[in-house]
Order: sequence, then C-alpha cells, then structure tokens
Amino acid sequence: MSHPSERATLFTTPESIPVLDVTTEQLDRQNIVGFRNADTRARPFKLLRSQILRRVQEDGLKVLGVTSAAPNVGKTFVACNLAAALSRIADMAVILIDLDLHRPAVATRLSFDPDGLGIQDVLAGDAELDQVARRIGEERLVVVPGFRREVATGELLTSPRGEDLFERMHAVGRDTLVIVDMPPIFADDDAVIIAKHLDGYLLVAQDGKTTAKQLTETVRMLSPAPLVGSVLNRFRTQILVDEYGYGMSYGYGGYY
Ligand SMILES: Nc1ncnc2c1ncn2[C@@H]1O[C@H](COP(=O)(O)OP(=O)(O)O)[C@@H](O)[C@H]1O
Ligand SMILES: [Mg+2]
Repeated sequence: MSHPSERATLFTTPESIPVLDVTTEQLDRQNIVGFRNADTRARPFKLLRSQILRRVQEDGLKVLGVTSAAPNVGKTFVACNLAAALSRIADMAVILIDLDLHRPAVATRLSFDPDGLGIQDVLAGDAELDQVARRIGEERLVVVPGFRREVATGELLTSPRGEDLFERMHAVGRDTLVIVDMPPIFADDDAVIIAKHLDGYLLVAQDGKTTAKQLTETVRMLSPAPLVGSVLNRFRTQILVDEYGYGMSYGYGGYY
C-alpha cells in the first residue's frame, strides 16, 4: 500500500514507521469510531472531515490544532476521531501529534504500550520522531503519542527541538494534515505557544459547561491563529457543532 504521508518530511524514513495493531474492539471501548465509515456514530466526524478537507484542499491547511478553554470537554475525543475519519479519505494522510504534554491521552485512546517513548522524549532529545511514531494498522494515520514526564513543557516547546518540530510539521506534503491534540488554554501558556505555529484550530466546547466568556477569551488569547471551527460536544446526548460568528460553522447532531 502506498501512503501519501511517505512524501512528507516530518519523518526521516516514513516508510519504516512501525505499525500498531489495534483491534476494532479496543477502538470501540475508547470511543474511537472515526474509522467506521458505515457506523452512524461516525457521522458527525464525516461531516466535520469534509469541512476540514475543504480547508486542506482550498486553503492549504496543514497544521490544525484542537483545543478548548478548560480540560475534559472532549478535545482528545474529537482529535482522534477526526484524524481517523480524515485518514479514510483517498489520497489523504493524517499525522496526529499529542502536544498536551501535561495530560497526554492519545496513547491510551489508541492502545499504545504505556511504557513506550513519546513526544516529550523527542523534545528532550532522548528519542527521534521516527522511533516514537506508529502507523495505526493499515490506516493512513500515523500517531505521535505522548507520555507524562516531569518536564518544563513551555521550555521544551520553545527550545530549538520544539522549533524544529513545528517547522517540520509545515514541511509535509499538500495531501497530509497534521492534527495537534492540544492542552486547554487556561492550564498554562503551552496552548498559546503551540498556537503560534498553527494554520488554524478547532475549538471544542462542552454543552452546559463552557461559557461564552471563556470562548471569547480563548479566541483572543490564541489570536492571530485562525479559528477554523467550533465543536459543541454534548456528552452522552449528542455531539453538535455550532456557530458563534467566527470562521466556519458545522451543524450536525445525533451523536449518542
Ligand atoms: N461525545 C462523547 N461521548 C462519550 N464520551 C465522550 C464524549 N466526549 C468525550 N468523551 C469522554 O470524556 C472523557 C474526556 O474527554 P477527552 O477527549 O479526554 O477530553 P479533553 O481532551 O478535552 O481533556 C474521555 O473519557 C472521553 O472518552
Ligand atoms: Mg485531551
């Protein structure tokens, strides 16, 4: 199988990235439904992916962040499922990078070995990206996981290795999208540092929990990074995407 990401320069030898075999059951248990084209639960992510795909094809979007005002609103849930759904588009490759350095969660969601190496080790100079990345089964999705380390995250992100990582993200081909699972805005300044290197970001809000004031403040803090869309995640009822006047809006319902 040929993967468009192999033309990317983020990895030195993309063709030899080890494969992580994850079963459908494991993905299901972690609410990862984006690979399931025929599943109704994947529908919101298929709608979201078509909007994002347009931005990739028409505006050359390459590096997309997923963030929120506060933790636990479903950022990782959205990032993983969107990455999965987009990787199912012919000729698209997706690279998902966990940059929520304090509370990395992508590895757990995708059933990585918890004793493995992650992006923190790459930023600290203890590992190379090619070593920590895994291709998910036969999918056109490559994941760079994170594992919690006692590190000064802001210093890592602004170090020469951090700068190099962001530069390489932008060197991927036009057929590749890098999705960055981010920390929330109000934790520390990591999200603001990351936002400087994004082509745009998705803002995840939780219905009944995230306030309008938090959203406006978030957009202000991340400026001038463009807000590409907002996702209103309704836990256990449905996932909706709504418009509040910025960028594009997504409208869909029926998740759970
Ligand atoms: N729409 C949803 N339906 C069911 N569970 C969800 C939904 N959104 C998030 N979750 C779950 O809620 C928890 C927190 O979500 P997560 O994506 O980790 O949030 P964040 O990354 O913003 O901290 C996770 O266990 C996740 O699987
Ligand atoms: Mg998260």
